[in-house]
Amino acid sequence: MTTSAIHRGLAGVVVDTTEISTVIEETNSLTYRGYPVQDLAARRSFEEVAYLLWHGELPDADRLREFRARERALRPLDRSLSELLARLPATCHPMDVLRTAVSLLGAEDPAEDDGSPAANRAKSLALLARLPVVVAADHRRRRGLDPVRPDPELGYAENFFHMCFGTVPAPEVVRCFEVSLILYAEHSFNASTFTARVVTSTLSDLYSAVTAAIGALKGPLHGGANEAVMHMLEEIGSPERAETWLDEALAAKRKIMGFGHRVYKHGDSRVPLMQEATDRLVARAADPEATRLATLHAALRQAMLSRKGIHPNLDYPAGLAYHLMGFDTPAFTPLFVMSRITGWTAHITEQLAHNALIRPLASYAGPAQRPVPAAVR
Ligand code: SDX
Repeated sequence: MTTSAIHRGLAGVVVDTTEISTVIEETNSLTYRGYPVQDLAARRSFEEVAYLLWHGELPDADRLREFRARERALRPLDRSLSELLARLPATCHPMDVLRTAVSLLGAEDPAEDDGSPAANRAKSLALLARLPVVVAADHRRRRGLDPVRPDPELGYAENFFHMCFGTVPAPEVVRCFEVSLILYAEHSFNASTFTARVVTSTLSDLYSAVTAAIGALKGPLHGGANEAVMHMLEEIGSPERAETWLDEALAAKRKIMGFGHRVYKHGDSRVPLMQEATDRLVARAADPEATRLATLHAALRQAMLSRKGIHPNLDYPAGLAYHLMGFDTPAFTPLFVMSRITGWTAHITEQLAHNALIRPLASYAGPAQRPVPAAVR
């Protein structure tokens, strides 16, 4: 048995290779299948990025047309999912709704245990198409509204707004949402993706791996941070209170949501683009409340940088952007799931392609071996 050093949280530990993306800390950049994510977010649609992550190449016009047609045809929810949504309490967290919905889809899939690349690609596309319908229907039921059917004439991002709000906002709002989806799609061996790979490494099914990944992403140290950012801004209340609030929070050893990162130590490569998109939303809103929030958001960011030298991560601008788009705060992390389902399922396929059961060691720190005392009477 080896007695290697302990790496808590697996910080800095390389456990496998991947061809899907790389986070280049030195140059503070991120590439998906070799393409800089900033260029993809500026020039491509989320559907094209999903295709790229799954297939390794960007689709040509014919393949994109066929991909979009298949995604749109898969959107409609069948009755059992609609009935499930109606039965879950409106007080449960939207991530619990998503986790349960994926579990139901797996239970109903006769091919659940078929882990072939073709079967998993079909499941992945079905999840890409259906998760937004679940998130939108859940968003509306919490507001006492009936679901809005998906519209096969609309693109992925437009259709999501249509299903949530019954209307499609201005193109720059849709574009900001699409930028967030592209930036959230994939990030190498983050906690939820690694969770999906651990489950897949036992040769369990794709739905089990995705359900586990949703559970991991829900945590505020990971995907749950974008929701926590909004709660934090509401707690601070005004730009004038940002510094005092921060000093008190840091003194209380609180983690400031939306800041810091295990890999990026000089700033998350995705933040500048997301911040620009969020700034455009604020300018477009031309509304005192949006301006006040943006001022508070900037003040906290500056204070955190000056006091701790810690930069924001993607969740920090994304949380404000989703609020400005009109989404309810608890729905922010489900938006992350709608995007990261692409990265998760790409890694599931990759793990299966050259699988090794993931089973690390532990250094034992419990009691030395001892005899069991006689049973008490
Ligand atoms: C995501 O891995 C990915 O790629 C994740 C992600 C993806 O796309 O999948 O990028 C998405 O999960 C982004 C992270 C979202 N989480 C948050 O915003 C929650 C707040 N952040 C922190 O909890 C923290 O920064 C982590 C968890 C993100 C990273 O933690 P690390 O790498 O384990 O760093 P650390 O906790 O060891 O911090 C080092 C020091 C500590 O100070 P000391 O105890 O050594 O004095 O920096 C401090 C920390 O206290 N610190 C913070 C802080 N982040 C680090 N202090 C206050 N607030 C913070 N946010």
